[in-house]
Amino acid sequence: MQYSEKVLDHFTHPRNVGEIEDANGVGEVGNAKCGDIMKIYLKVSDDGIIEDVKFKTFGCGAAIATSSMATEMVKGKSLEEALKLTNKAVAEALDGLPPVKMHCSVLAEEALRSAISDYYKRLGKDPAEILGCD
Ligand code: FES
Ligand code: FES
Repeated sequence: MQYSEKVLDHFTHPRNVGEIEDANGVGEVGNAKCGDIMKIYLKVSDDGIIEDVKFKTFGCGAAIATSSMATEMVKGKSLEEALKLTNKAVAEALDGLPPVKMHCSVLAEEALRSAISDYYKRLGKDPAEILGCD
């Protein structure tokens, strides 16, 4: 299987690994296909900017690389912008993923949405209204 240099770089030196102790949004999802798990922590400012984001995963190399890239892409962005991030955009930013590994990139997108949803819930807002689903 051929991985791009960017995938290998993010896999061997993942950015934003760990936990945020005072996170105000936490999301966890499992991949139905392989049983791998991803957890994302968000520190969102009062005006809705993602000040910090970290992730932990029990997942394969492609899951680690996509999470690393996804967290880099949403850091400093507004929640609205972060919600527009797709696994396809993350894969493109990594110069592509082997087709059999595309589903691994879904973990990061879903964990991120779940963490944002948790953030809205903690504020007493209905995430379904903001995300259009949950
Ligand atoms: Fe299992 Fe990608 S999630 S092979
Ligand atoms: Fe499970 Fe890739 S094999 S996330």
